[in-house]
Amino acid sequence: MSLDKSEALAALSWLLDAGADEALLDEPVDRFTAAAAKAAAPMPQSLRPTPEAVRPKTEFPKSAPSKPVAPMGDTDSIGRATEIAARCNSLGELKAALEAFEGLALKKLATNTVFADGTPDCHIMFIGEAPGREEDLAGLPFVGRAGKLLDKMLAAIGLDRKTNAYITNVINWRPPENRDPSPEEAATCLPFLRRHIELVAPEIIIVLGAVAARHVMGRTDGIMRLRGKWLEYHVNGRMVPVMPTLHPAYLLRRAIEKKLAWRDLQEIDEKIKSLGLLERGVARG
Ligand code: URA
Repeated sequence: MSLDKSEALAALSWLLDAGADEALLDEPVDRFTAAAAKAAAPMPQSLRPTPEAVRPKTEFPKSAPSKPVAPMGDTDSIGRATEIAARCNSLGELKAALEAFEGLALKKLATNTVFADGTPDCHIMFIGEAPGREEDLAGLPFVGRAGKLLDKMLAAIGLDRKTNAYITNVINWRPPENRDPSPEEAATCLPFLRRHIELVAPEIIIVLGAVAARHVMGRTDGIMRLRGKWLEYHVNGRMVPVMPTLHPAYLLRRAIEKKLAWRDLQEIDEKIKSLGLLERGVARG
């Protein structure tokens, strides 16, 4: 379709109003068509829900007034996410399932699914909020400015992603303009995150910032109240200590708070030492 100049400007202005904040490619890509083609592709056998797990479809009465299609992130999407995540028995399967998942509108706007980075066997798991622009482009969490600061925070206590830290986010696709994820978006991603935690079986979890603390721990207190104190996450009959701390993006804006983050890092370091996690390393049994 070719547009004249005023049509092209109108389309551009519409895209800006809709939240577009950068051009990724020279040529437009129709992601709705691409997503529909992908959705039509058969799901791998290992990820298909069992017949008993498939819930009956809701029938709308024929006389019901026509309504917009229910937004993605509804209870059906959450149910589907729960069923699919439960059937994943490895991190590879979970990543593939997220990449094949079509239940969240955010994904249609994203360049990549951002799954995780680091060493899953180290059992030290960091959970952030959601990918930003650079993470969306790279398909990896925490690679932008906040990620560089996170790497420095890790290094300050002898951690790095190549040997002894594992990093993921609550949300696997970038929210436009880096807005906070909505409760529905978080609720749809959470079954995947919970399964992710089960599969990694961490010995400690560090949640980065208020949004991660809210969704992982269900705590709505401000991060300033939560940070620095160990909480408990229960998974498969095991209690995992969780430390909420300040998000590196917040520390980039409020450098004065780095002293609080430093205290939290020392707590984390002590816990890692008391559990002997670095000595046990990847050989943990
Ligand atoms: N902020 C996050 O919470 N996660 C990322 O991956 C990057 C920035």
